[in-house]
Amino acid sequence: MNILVTGGAGFIGSNFIIYWLKKHPQDRIVNLDALTYAGNPENLTSVDQLPNYRFVKGNICNAKLVSQLCKGIDIVVHFAAESHVDRSIKDPGVFLETNVSGTHILLKSALKNKIKRFHHISTDEVFGSLDLSENKKFNENTPYFPRSPYAASKAASDHLVLAFYHTYGLPVTITNCSNNYGPYQHPEKLIPLTITNIIENKKVPVYGDGKNIRDWLYVEDHCRAIDLVLKEGKIGETYCIGGLLKDVSNLEIIRMIFRILKKEDSLISFVKDRPGHDRKYAIDWSKIKKDLGWQPEATLEEWLTKTVEWYSKNRVWWQKLKKGQFEIYFKQQYPDL
Ligand code: NAD
Ligand code: TYD
Repeated sequence: MNILVTGGAGFIGSNFIIYWLKKHPQDRIVNLDALTYAGNPENLTSVDQLPNYRFVKGNICNAKLVSQLCKGIDIVVHFAAESHVDRSIKDPGVFLETNVSGTHILLKSALKNKIKRFHHISTDEVFGSLDLSENKKFNENTPYFPRSPYAASKAASDHLVLAFYHTYGLPVTITNCSNNYGPYQHPEKLIPLTITNIIENKKVPVYGDGKNIRDWLYVEDHCRAIDLVLKEGKIGETYCIGGLLKDVSNLEIIRMIFRILKKEDSLISFVKDRPGHDRKYAIDWSKIKKDLGWQPEATLEEWLTKTVEWYSKNRVWWQKLKKGQFEIYFKQQYPDL
């Protein structure tokens, strides 16, 4: 099988490539990644010498390049995106270019090259926000109600993917997953920022009252789910993927990390809330469980402990990312700290 992975130098994409080449060593992967601030070739040092892995630095908006790379490809797994909500609030333009136009360019090329499967990685953020008091969860039939520029751009891309299925018969599948965590996640995101700030004895920023709720999915569980959808998922269908069954607030997650690191939580600092901050995401992943037999392999506590251990052991990896441009970003994003 020849697979084109987009955005494979980012967090989930690199975990997926490592997972896939281990599980399916006979397959060939081409990784197309523009290496934005979020792309890091060091994530792939364990596979980059393999003869069945090829890295191409390039933009998914480059139609000529995308068309060349799609030749001979069986499956496209599309991760490439601008992925950080806070950055989308400051500058939505690039989110529309990559997440919407880039996806359109890939879809056109996939169609022209008669790709056997186009798998699109999306998010639960397209469904909007639940109230804290609500017991409802998002599922595959929940209407879209994106509320941040990031979520709007991902919603637009999901609609385009399904439009290519209904209009042109492109064989697509979509997964809408919750917040991922695990190795190689950029330290701008909540869990790695919290772990690394605690290790560095720096303040841990909590937006608003910290009661916002997210569902948390360990990245390797996510990779297994994508694998199953590629093998057994139904063409034209969407699968919701989540990691939890009960609600956990941001503050609870942060306190769990302090406990795992055996530190007092005095570094917690409440900062100005994110504009339009979605209060709660909760995802019902019973369809993928029932239809494909998928479920997380460990508990939040177990996966979080493993994640904390990874960041504790791989300081050189994240220390580099927290220098230079990131310091400027951090000061602008957290002026209260
Ligand atoms: P990430 O920001 O870590 O990585 C994105 C990768 O895409 C980077 O390597 C970057 O260089 C690359 N990229 C960006 N623009 C590009 C372009 N124009 N052309 C080629 N490459 C480009 O993101 P992630 O967290 O790994 O997320 C991967 C996918 O999963 C995204 O589509 C995201 O919307 C989705 N998702 C992520 C989460 C999460 O919690 N991280 C949750 C739900 C869905
Ligand atoms: P984040 O990791 O940015 O993911 P998303 O916004 O896509 O859910 O944030 C997860 C939650 O943590 C979200 O409710 C915002 C909150 N948060 C903080 O409280 N402090 C922070 O410094 C960050 C980055 C996020």
